Amino acid sequence: MQDKLGRKLTDLRISVTDRCNFRCRYCMPEELYGEAYEFLKRDQVLSFEEIVRLTKIFIKLGINKVRLTGGEPLVRKNIEELISSISRLDKNIDLAMTTNGYLLDKFANILFSSGLRRLTISLDSLDNDIFQKMSGKKFSVEDILKGISSAKEAGFKNIKINSVIKKGVNDKGIIDLVDYCKQEGHILRFIEYMDVGTLNSWNRKSVVDSKEITEIISEKYSIHPIKKNYSSEVADRYQFDDGEGELGFISSVSNPFCMSCTRSRITADGKFVTCLFSNKGLDLKRYLRSKATDEDILNLISDNWLVRDDQYSLDRSLGKDKVKDKIEMFQLGG
Ligand code: GTP
Ligand code: 5AD
Ligand code: SF4
Ligand code: SF4
Repeated sequence: MQDKLGRKLTDLRISVTDRCNFRCRYCMPEELYGEAYEFLKRDQVLSFEEIVRLTKIFIKLGINKVRLTGGEPLVRKNIEELISSISRLDKNIDLAMTTNGYLLDKFANILFSSGLRRLTISLDSLDNDIFQKMSGKKFSVEDILKGISSAKEAGFKNIKINSVIKKGVNDKGIIDLVDYCKQEGHILRFIEYMDVGTLNSWNRKSVVDSKEITEIISEKYSIHPIKKNYSSEVADRYQFDDGEGELGFISSVSNPFCMSCTRSRITADGKFVTCLFSNKGLDLKRYLRSKATDEDILNLISDNWLVRDDQYSLDRSLGKDKVKDKIEMFQLGG
Protein backbone atom coordinates (compact mmCIF):
# COMPACT_ATOMS: atom_id res chain seq x y z
CA MET A 1 0.00 0.00 0.00
CA GLN A 2 1.55 3.28 -1.12
CA ASP A 3 0.43 6.86 -0.68
CA LYS A 4 0.17 9.38 -3.51
CA LEU A 5 3.90 10.01 -3.38
CA GLY A 6 4.80 6.30 -3.42
CA ARG A 7 5.50 5.98 0.32
CA LYS A 8 4.63 2.83 2.26
CA LEU A 9 3.10 2.75 5.73
CA THR A 10 5.64 1.02 7.97
CA ASP A 11 5.66 3.01 11.20
CA LEU A 12 3.01 3.61 13.82
CA ARG A 13 3.52 6.14 16.62
CA ILE A 14 0.92 6.06 19.35
CA SER A 15 0.39 8.87 21.81
CA VAL A 16 -0.91 7.18 24.96
CA THR A 17 -1.75 10.37 26.85
CA ASP A 18 -1.80 14.13 26.27
CA ARG A 19 -0.56 14.70 29.85
CA CYS A 20 3.00 15.44 30.78
CA ASN A 21 4.94 16.16 33.96
CA PHE A 22 7.12 18.68 32.06
CA ARG A 23 6.18 22.01 30.59
CA CYS A 24 8.76 22.44 27.85
CA ARG A 25 8.63 25.97 26.49
CA TYR A 26 8.55 24.73 22.91
CA CYS A 27 5.65 22.37 23.54
CA MET A 28 3.44 23.10 26.58
CA PRO A 29 4.33 26.49 28.05
CA GLU A 30 3.36 26.62 31.73
CA GLU A 31 1.32 29.80 31.39
CA LEU A 32 -1.03 28.07 28.93
CA TYR A 33 -1.02 24.61 30.49
CA GLY A 34 -1.35 25.43 34.17
CA GLU A 35 -3.72 24.02 36.77
CA ALA A 36 -6.79 25.20 34.88
CA TYR A 37 -6.01 23.50 31.59
CA GLU A 38 -8.35 20.65 30.83
CA PHE A 39 -6.57 17.65 29.45
CA LEU A 40 -8.54 14.85 27.83
CA LYS A 41 -10.91 13.05 30.15
CA ARG A 42 -10.45 9.36 30.77
CA ASP A 43 -13.20 8.23 28.42
CA GLN A 44 -11.88 10.46 25.63
CA VAL A 45 -8.55 8.65 25.65
CA LEU A 46 -8.21 5.31 23.87
CA SER A 47 -8.26 2.36 26.26
CA PHE A 48 -5.47 -0.23 26.12
CA GLU A 49 -7.91 -2.65 24.47
CA GLU A 50 -8.64 -0.10 21.76
CA ILE A 51 -4.94 0.63 21.21
CA VAL A 52 -4.14 -3.08 20.94
CA ARG A 53 -7.03 -3.63 18.52
CA LEU A 54 -5.77 -0.80 16.34
CA THR A 55 -2.19 -2.03 16.51
CA LYS A 56 -3.30 -5.45 15.26
CA ILE A 57 -5.05 -3.78 12.34
CA PHE A 58 -1.93 -1.75 11.52
CA ILE A 59 0.18 -4.91 11.65
CA LYS A 60 -2.16 -6.42 9.06
CA LEU A 61 -1.52 -3.31 6.99
CA GLY A 62 2.20 -4.01 7.08
CA ILE A 63 3.76 -1.86 9.81
CA ASN A 64 6.92 -3.16 11.46
CA LYS A 65 7.50 -0.48 14.11
CA VAL A 66 5.45 0.84 16.99
CA ARG A 67 6.62 3.76 19.10
CA LEU A 68 4.77 4.81 22.25
CA THR A 69 4.80 8.54 22.90
CA GLY A 70 2.74 11.15 24.73
CA GLY A 71 2.61 13.72 26.28
CA GLU A 72 4.76 11.67 28.58
CA PRO A 73 3.95 7.96 28.17
CA LEU A 74 5.14 7.03 31.67
CA VAL A 75 2.40 9.11 33.30
CA ARG A 76 -0.21 6.78 31.78
CA LYS A 77 -1.25 4.36 34.51
CA ASN A 78 -0.20 0.72 34.04
CA ILE A 79 1.61 1.46 30.78
CA GLU A 80 3.51 -1.82 31.27
CA GLU A 81 0.28 -3.71 30.56
CA LEU A 82 0.03 -2.10 27.16
CA ILE A 83 3.68 -2.90 26.45
CA SER A 84 3.13 -6.57 27.36
CA SER A 85 0.09 -6.81 25.13
CA ILE A 86 1.73 -5.16 22.13
CA SER A 87 4.96 -7.10 22.49
CA ARG A 88 2.99 -10.35 22.52
CA LEU A 89 1.14 -9.50 19.29
CA ASP A 90 4.03 -10.17 16.93
CA LYS A 91 7.66 -10.81 17.80
CA ASN A 92 8.84 -9.06 14.65
CA ILE A 93 7.40 -5.71 15.67
CA ASP A 94 10.05 -3.26 16.80
CA LEU A 95 8.51 -1.68 19.90
CA ALA A 96 10.02 1.54 21.25
CA MET A 97 9.17 4.40 23.58
CA THR A 98 10.07 8.09 23.70
CA THR A 99 10.10 9.51 27.23
CA ASN A 100 11.39 12.59 29.04
CA GLY A 101 13.05 10.20 31.48
CA TYR A 102 11.83 11.72 34.73
CA LEU A 103 9.99 8.55 35.81
CA LEU A 104 12.48 6.16 34.26
CA ASP A 105 14.34 5.36 37.45
CA LYS A 106 11.09 4.03 38.85
CA PHE A 107 9.92 2.24 35.70
CA ALA A 108 13.05 0.98 33.89
CA ASN A 109 12.92 -2.59 35.22
CA ILE A 110 9.22 -3.05 34.71
CA LEU A 111 9.40 -1.66 31.18
CA PHE A 112 12.16 -4.09 30.30
CA SER A 113 10.45 -7.08 31.86
CA SER A 114 7.22 -6.21 30.02
CA GLY A 115 9.03 -6.60 26.72
CA LEU A 116 10.16 -3.09 25.80
CA ARG A 117 13.65 -3.16 24.30
CA ARG A 118 14.17 0.28 22.76
CA LEU A 119 14.14 3.57 24.57
CA THR A 120 14.66 7.15 23.47
CA ILE A 121 15.06 9.80 26.14
CA SER A 122 14.71 13.51 25.44
CA LEU A 123 17.42 15.56 27.12
CA ASP A 124 18.21 19.05 25.86
CA SER A 125 20.89 20.09 28.33
CA LEU A 126 23.14 18.80 31.08
CA ASP A 127 23.23 22.24 32.67
CA ASN A 128 20.65 22.26 35.42
CA ASP A 129 19.57 25.89 34.96
CA ILE A 130 19.17 25.55 31.22
CA PHE A 131 17.45 22.19 31.59
CA GLN A 132 14.95 23.68 34.04
CA LYS A 133 14.36 26.67 31.84
CA MET A 134 13.66 24.48 28.83
CA SER A 135 11.59 21.82 30.59
CA GLY A 136 9.59 24.40 32.53
CA LYS A 137 9.88 22.53 35.84
CA LYS A 138 12.20 22.54 38.79
CA PHE A 139 13.27 18.95 38.20
CA SER A 140 16.96 18.27 38.23
CA VAL A 141 19.07 16.88 35.39
CA GLU A 142 20.43 14.38 37.92
CA ASP A 143 17.00 12.72 38.05
CA ILE A 144 17.01 12.19 34.31
CA LEU A 145 20.59 10.88 34.35
CA LYS A 146 19.62 8.49 37.12
CA GLY A 147 16.70 7.31 35.00
CA ILE A 148 18.95 6.75 32.01
CA SER A 149 21.46 4.77 34.03
CA SER A 150 18.67 2.67 35.55
CA ALA A 151 17.53 1.88 32.02
CA LYS A 152 21.03 0.73 31.14
CA GLU A 153 21.18 -1.42 34.26
CA ALA A 154 17.77 -2.87 33.48
CA GLY A 155 19.15 -4.19 30.17
CA PHE A 156 18.31 -1.54 27.57
CA LYS A 157 20.97 -1.34 24.88
CA ASN A 158 21.69 1.36 22.30
CA ILE A 159 19.72 3.91 24.28
CA LYS A 160 19.03 7.03 22.23
CA ILE A 161 19.16 10.55 23.62
CA ASN A 162 17.27 13.23 21.66
CA SER A 163 18.35 16.85 22.03
CA VAL A 164 16.55 19.77 20.50
CA ILE A 165 19.02 22.61 20.09
CA LYS A 166 17.79 26.22 20.19
CA LYS A 167 20.09 29.03 19.25
CA GLY A 168 21.19 31.08 22.24
CA VAL A 169 19.45 28.74 24.67
CA ASN A 170 21.31 25.41 24.88
CA ASP A 171 23.76 25.49 21.97
CA LYS A 172 26.70 26.06 24.32
CA GLY A 173 26.09 22.62 25.83
CA ILE A 174 26.48 20.56 22.66
CA ILE A 175 29.94 19.21 23.51
CA ASP A 176 28.90 18.32 27.06
CA LEU A 177 26.09 16.20 25.67
CA VAL A 178 28.46 14.54 23.20
CA ASP A 179 31.03 13.81 25.95
CA TYR A 180 28.40 12.31 28.22
CA CYS A 181 26.77 10.12 25.57
CA LYS A 182 30.08 8.94 24.14
CA GLN A 183 31.28 7.97 27.56
CA GLU A 184 28.06 6.17 28.48
CA GLY A 185 27.62 4.47 25.11
CA HIS A 186 24.34 6.21 24.24
CA ILE A 187 23.40 7.32 20.73
CA LEU A 188 22.98 11.08 20.81
CA ARG A 189 20.73 12.63 18.16
CA PHE A 190 20.45 16.34 17.58
CA ILE A 191 17.03 17.46 16.37
CA GLU A 192 16.69 20.72 14.52
CA TYR A 193 14.17 22.90 16.28
CA MET A 194 10.88 22.71 14.35
CA ASP A 195 7.68 24.71 14.01
CA VAL A 196 5.47 21.95 15.42
CA GLY A 197 2.13 22.99 16.90
CA THR A 198 1.06 26.60 17.28
CA LEU A 199 2.74 27.72 20.46
CA ASN A 200 6.48 27.92 20.14
CA SER A 201 6.66 31.18 18.11
CA TRP A 202 9.12 29.37 15.90
CA ASN A 203 11.58 31.41 13.97
CA ARG A 204 14.06 30.05 11.42
CA LYS A 205 16.76 32.08 13.17
CA SER A 206 16.44 30.04 16.35
CA VAL A 207 17.29 26.81 14.53
CA VAL A 208 20.84 25.54 14.82
CA ASP A 209 21.36 23.61 11.59
CA SER A 210 22.88 20.13 11.76
CA LYS A 211 25.80 21.40 9.70
CA GLU A 212 26.66 23.95 12.40
CA ILE A 213 26.39 21.30 15.09
CA THR A 214 28.67 18.98 13.13
CA GLU A 215 31.23 21.77 12.88
CA ILE A 216 31.12 22.40 16.62
CA ILE A 217 31.58 18.68 17.34
CA SER A 218 34.39 18.40 14.80
CA GLU A 219 36.45 20.89 16.79
CA LYS A 220 36.85 18.20 19.44
CA TYR A 221 36.05 14.88 17.76
CA SER A 222 36.70 13.32 14.37
CA ILE A 223 33.51 11.81 13.03
CA HIS A 224 32.40 10.31 9.72
CA PRO A 225 29.00 9.53 8.19
CA ILE A 226 27.72 5.97 8.13
CA LYS A 227 24.84 4.29 6.32
CA LYS A 228 21.25 4.57 7.53
CA ASN A 229 19.86 1.48 9.26
CA TYR A 230 16.78 1.59 7.02
CA SER A 231 15.71 3.84 4.17
CA SER A 232 13.12 5.89 6.07
CA GLU A 233 15.30 6.50 9.14
CA VAL A 234 15.00 10.19 10.12
CA ALA A 235 18.52 10.56 11.47
CA ASP A 236 21.69 10.88 9.43
CA ARG A 237 24.14 8.69 11.33
CA TYR A 238 27.77 9.40 12.18
CA GLN A 239 30.43 7.38 13.94
CA PHE A 240 33.44 8.60 15.88
CA ASP A 241 36.66 7.82 14.05
CA ASP A 242 37.94 6.02 17.15
CA GLY A 243 35.07 3.55 16.72
CA GLU A 244 33.56 4.39 20.11
CA GLY A 245 30.06 5.72 19.72
CA GLU A 246 27.43 7.01 17.33
CA LEU A 247 25.71 10.34 16.69
CA GLY A 248 22.63 11.25 14.68
CA PHE A 249 21.32 14.44 13.10
CA ILE A 250 17.65 14.96 12.43
CA SER A 251 17.58 17.79 9.93
CA SER A 252 13.94 18.26 9.14
CA VAL A 253 14.44 22.01 8.67
CA SER A 254 17.69 22.20 6.70
CA ASN A 255 17.25 18.92 4.83
CA PRO A 256 13.67 17.63 4.95
CA PHE A 257 13.10 13.90 4.62
CA CYS A 258 9.43 13.91 3.61
CA MET A 259 10.02 11.91 0.45
CA SER A 260 10.88 8.83 2.51
CA CYS A 261 8.34 9.39 5.28
CA THR A 262 6.57 6.16 6.17
CA ARG A 263 5.29 7.35 9.56
CA SER A 264 1.75 7.57 10.84
CA ARG A 265 0.53 8.73 14.20
CA ILE A 266 -2.42 8.16 16.51
CA THR A 267 -3.35 10.84 19.00
CA ALA A 268 -4.32 9.96 22.56
CA ASP A 269 -7.97 10.47 21.58
CA GLY A 270 -7.72 8.15 18.63
CA LYS A 271 -7.17 10.33 15.59
CA PHE A 272 -5.12 8.87 12.74
CA VAL A 273 -2.73 11.55 11.54
CA THR A 274 -0.45 11.23 8.52
CA CYS A 275 1.95 14.13 9.16
CA LEU A 276 3.55 15.65 12.25
CA PHE A 277 2.36 19.05 11.02
CA SER A 278 -1.26 18.14 10.28
CA ASN A 279 -4.20 20.08 11.58
CA LYS A 280 -6.63 17.18 11.30
CA GLY A 281 -6.92 13.45 11.63
CA LEU A 282 -9.33 10.61 10.94
CA ASP A 283 -11.38 9.93 14.07
CA LEU A 284 -10.78 6.21 14.58
CA LYS A 285 -12.20 6.24 18.11
CA ARG A 286 -15.65 6.87 16.70
CA TYR A 287 -15.37 3.70 14.64
CA LEU A 288 -13.75 1.68 17.42
CA ARG A 289 -16.76 2.54 19.58
CA SER A 290 -19.32 1.77 16.87
CA LYS A 291 -20.28 -1.49 15.22
CA ALA A 292 -17.45 -1.20 12.71
CA THR A 293 -15.51 -4.42 12.16
CA ASP A 294 -11.71 -4.67 12.07
CA GLU A 295 -11.99 -4.92 8.31
CA ASP A 296 -14.04 -1.70 8.12
CA ILE A 297 -11.39 0.10 10.17
CA LEU A 298 -8.56 -1.37 8.13
CA ASN A 299 -10.24 -0.12 4.96
CA LEU A 300 -10.72 3.36 6.43
CA ILE A 301 -7.04 3.59 7.33
CA SER A 302 -5.86 2.32 3.98
CA ASP A 303 -8.21 4.68 2.07
CA ASN A 304 -6.72 7.51 4.09
CA TRP A 305 -3.15 6.44 3.40
CA LEU A 306 -3.76 6.03 -0.33
CA VAL A 307 -4.69 9.72 -0.68
CA ARG A 308 -1.87 10.97 1.56
CA ASP A 309 0.26 13.68 -0.02
CA ASP A 310 1.82 15.28 3.10
CA GLN A 311 5.21 16.88 2.73
CA TYR A 312 5.06 19.72 5.20
CA SER A 313 8.78 20.08 5.97
CA LEU A 314 9.61 20.09 2.31
CA ASP A 315 6.95 22.74 1.65
CA ARG A 316 8.29 24.82 4.52
CA SER A 317 11.75 24.69 3.09
CA LEU A 318 10.34 25.91 -0.23
CA GLY A 319 8.51 28.72 1.54
CA LYS A 320 5.06 27.38 0.75
CA ASP A 321 3.82 25.84 3.99
CA LYS A 322 0.19 26.70 4.54
CA VAL A 323 -1.05 24.60 7.44
CA LYS A 324 -2.85 26.66 10.07
CA ASP A 325 -3.85 25.44 13.56
CA LYS A 326 -1.50 22.47 13.58
CA ILE A 327 -2.06 19.76 16.17
CA GLU A 328 0.17 20.32 19.21
CA MET A 329 3.25 18.13 19.78
CA PHE A 330 1.99 16.84 23.14
CA GLN A 331 -1.20 15.59 21.47
CA LEU A 332 0.63 13.87 18.66
CA GLY A 333 3.88 12.66 20.17
CA GLY A 334 7.14 13.50 18.44
P1 GTP B 1 14.16 4.93 15.55
O1 GTP B 1 14.83 4.99 14.23
O2 GTP B 1 13.03 3.98 15.57
O3 GTP B 1 15.08 4.74 16.69
O4 GTP B 1 13.50 6.26 15.90
P2 GTP B 1 13.49 7.59 15.10
O5 GTP B 1 14.82 7.81 14.49
O6 GTP B 1 12.28 7.58 14.27
O7 GTP B 1 13.49 8.65 16.18
P3 GTP B 1 12.37 9.29 17.05
O8 GTP B 1 11.14 8.55 16.92
O9 GTP B 1 12.97 9.43 18.40
O10 GTP B 1 12.27 10.68 16.36
C1 GTP B 1 13.16 11.65 16.72
C2 GTP B 1 12.61 13.00 16.46
O11 GTP B 1 12.65 13.26 15.07
C3 GTP B 1 11.16 13.19 16.85
O12 GTP B 1 11.05 13.50 18.19
C4 GTP B 1 10.80 14.36 15.98
O13 GTP B 1 11.26 15.54 16.59
C5 GTP B 1 11.60 14.08 14.73
N1 GTP B 1 10.78 13.35 13.79
C6 GTP B 1 10.43 12.03 13.84
N2 GTP B 1 9.65 11.73 12.83
C7 GTP B 1 9.48 12.84 12.11
C8 GTP B 1 8.75 13.15 10.96
O14 GTP B 1 8.09 12.31 10.38
N3 GTP B 1 8.81 14.43 10.51
C9 GTP B 1 9.54 15.36 11.11
N4 GTP B 1 9.55 16.56 10.57
N5 GTP B 1 10.23 15.12 12.23
C10 GTP B 1 10.20 13.88 12.72
N1 5AD C 1 11.22 20.79 17.47
C1 5AD C 1 11.95 19.65 17.48
N2 5AD C 1 11.74 18.65 18.35
C2 5AD C 1 10.77 18.81 19.24
N3 5AD C 1 10.34 18.02 20.24
C3 5AD C 1 9.32 18.63 20.87
N4 5AD C 1 9.06 19.83 20.29
C4 5AD C 1 9.96 19.97 19.29
C5 5AD C 1 10.24 20.98 18.34
N5 5AD C 1 9.53 22.11 18.30
C6 5AD C 1 10.95 16.74 20.57
C7 5AD C 1 11.15 16.56 22.05
C8 5AD C 1 11.24 15.08 22.16
C9 5AD C 1 10.35 14.58 21.07
C10 5AD C 1 9.09 14.00 21.57
O1 5AD C 1 10.09 15.69 20.23
O2 5AD C 1 12.29 17.16 22.54
O3 5AD C 1 12.55 14.60 21.96
FE1 SF4 D 1 6.29 16.91 27.75
FE2 SF4 D 1 7.70 16.09 25.64
FE3 SF4 D 1 6.13 18.25 25.44
FE4 SF4 D 1 8.32 18.38 26.91
S1 SF4 D 1 8.23 18.03 24.69
S2 SF4 D 1 6.26 19.13 27.51
S3 SF4 D 1 8.44 16.34 27.75
S4 SF4 D 1 5.44 16.15 25.80
FE1 SF4 E 1 6.61 13.06 7.26
FE2 SF4 E 1 5.19 15.28 7.56
FE3 SF4 E 1 7.55 14.95 8.79
FE4 SF4 E 1 7.44 15.35 6.15
S1 SF4 E 1 6.83 16.78 7.72
S2 SF4 E 1 8.69 13.85 7.26
S3 SF4 E 1 5.56 14.21 5.66
S4 SF4 E 1 5.67 13.76 9.14
